[in-house]
Amino acid sequence: MELIVAVYDDWGIGRDGTQPITLSADRRFFRETTRGCLVIAGRRTMEDFPGKKPLPGRVNAVLTRSDGEFPGFTVCRGPEEAAKLAKEQGRVFVIGGGSVYRQMLPYCDRAYVTKIHVRPESDTFFPNLDVMEDWEIEKRLLSGEESGIAYEMLLYKRKEQ
Ligand SMILES: NC(=O)c1ccc[n+]([C@@H]2O[C@H](COP(=O)([O-])OP(=O)(O)OC[C@H]3O[C@@H](n4cnc5c(N)ncnc54)[C@H](OP(=O)(O)O)[C@@H]3O)[C@@H](O)[C@H]2O)c1
Repeated sequence: MELIVAVYDDWGIGRDGTQPITLSADRRFFRETTRGCLVIAGRRTMEDFPGKKPLPGRVNAVLTRSDGEFPGFTVCRGPEEAAKLAKEQGRVFVIGGGSVYRQMLPYCDRAYVTKIHVRPESDTFFPNLDVMEDWEIEKRLLSGEESGIAYEMLLYKRKEQ
């Protein structure tokens, strides 16, 4: 399983249920990378999708403990159930948010990380892969600047044991 995330300089990823700063280059990178794949999101992240609808061109799964209806989503009751679903699919991306990244990280061996070089106030964070001994940068994929904000896309991989 893989994951994709956009982080600010302090590895913050969001505030008040949304991302305070987004870049169209990153949205495009997300769309291109995850197209045709299964994407797994937490219920709070799903509520931030446009119209709270499944992302088009992808198979969508939502993690929730609630009994509510989630049309267009496969419902998973926990990380184990999401991991089981992932085994039945081709390429699978964990797409957040904070609690789902944390719980699903042990199942992931690749992480596509967009570093957006700003530091807005966040209330939700991603684990800092740069200080985690079992993760390393495999490739620098892209970099650029948008509206005066520098960004880079990096591919991290779990180190082989
Ligand atoms: N920068 C990025 O790339 C990026 C990407 C995605 C999200 N985000 C940001 O991350 C923030 C949201 O993250 P978050 O941590 O607050 O919420 P989240 O992880 O998106 O969703 C949390 C919800 O997922 C469900 N859930 C979590 N663990 C579960 C488990 N073990 N079993 C069953 N259901 C489980 C629960 O839903 P129920 O309450 O329904 O039970 C829980 O309330 C937002 O600010 C968003 O913008 C950033």
